[in-house]
Amino acid sequence: MKILAIESSCDETAAAVTEEKKILSSVVVSQIAEHAVYGGVVPEIASRRHAENIVQVVKKALDDAKASLSEIDTVAVTYAPGLIGALLVGVNFAKGMALALKKPLIPVHHIRSHIASNYITNPSLKPPFMCLVASGGHSHIVMVNDYTDFKVLGRTVDDAAGECFDKSARTLGLPYPGGVHLDKLADAGDASLYNLPHPHVSGKYDMSFSGLKTAVINLVHNEKQKNGELGEQMRADIAAAVRCRVCDMLIDSTMRAASDFGVKQLAVAGGVSANSELRRRLKKECRCAGIDFYLPDLSLCGDNAAMVGVQAYYEYQNGHIAGSDLNAYATMPIEKDYEN
Ligand code: KG4
Ligand code: ZN
Repeated sequence: MKILAIESSCDETAAAVTEEKKILSSVVVSQIAEHAVYGGVVPEIASRRHAENIVQVVKKALDDAKASLSEIDTVAVTYAPGLIGALLVGVNFAKGMALALKKPLIPVHHIRSHIASNYITNPSLKPPFMCLVASGGHSHIVMVNDYTDFKVLGRTVDDAAGECFDKSARTLGLPYPGGVHLDKLADAGDASLYNLPHPHVSGKYDMSFSGLKTAVINLVHNEKQKNGELGEQMRADIAAAVRCRVCDMLIDSTMRAASDFGVKQLAVAGGVSANSELRRRLKKECRCAGIDFYLPDLSLCGDNAAMVGVQAYYEYQNGHIAGSDLNAYATMPIEKDYEN
């Protein structure tokens, strides 16, 4: 079954052609350079660029897969959660395609699709497993009971881990989105020189990143007052301390949940799963705990449509098919199946 998948939930316009867990093509057009000028995603600009790019992106995905429209069996699209105007571009385009092709339309939840990126890199992975999903907008510890059956065990009570990375990076003068730049800078730093807070929250597997974000802003401000502009080594040391503390919080909650629930398989997903320290440390923790550990390929950690196509395959198997009244939603719990 060939699926044409579309993703436009934030600042990447993406389309892919997939067949079960196999990628036949995957095209991602990023708007990052344009949003970087403003230090964050400007929703109105994102919607306009999606509308401008989507025809070419879908056409390229079909061309790269050497697939004609008549070979497409279903059309899949991210319908929630995300920026509403951005989502609507993809949803309306997919609705039009499905209607014109007379093929089923499959709505896909963004976080479910991030989790599905693991099936592409590790085709042997099957539920049940636990997944840490950390991105710019979400930080969830999810039990994946089955391909379309999810239970959130823990989540951030305030900011997402990616938001904490991005704001800390901005404070250190790094370009947007700063997570990847902070990760590189941290490699040259000593994480032990700054004692950043590790907040504890009441939910056993919940996390909190906003206090850490504020502490980094205050730390940089104070260092600048004392010493003027920060030197390269001091910036690297602060970056290393931030990276270490974000990883501490993600790993502590994840491994506590894994132990309590007797988890045998653990996966990570979302943009922050590209973080080198998180990947390294979780791998080691899982080896020590006798848990099989799964990571998506770096190219699949950020937003893309291949993961949407793969999750759509399982949504379709479970009869989650939308009508032409499909709407987009800025928020939507991962547990909730699409209801027609
Ligand atoms: O999943 P994603 O592409 O978009 C959302 O759904 O939010 O995640 C983007 C987030 C950004 O906050 C970005 O800075 C972060 O993932 N990120 C990283 C790294 N690469 C991307 N954070 C830490 N280390 C990285 N290497
Ligand atoms: Zn995402």
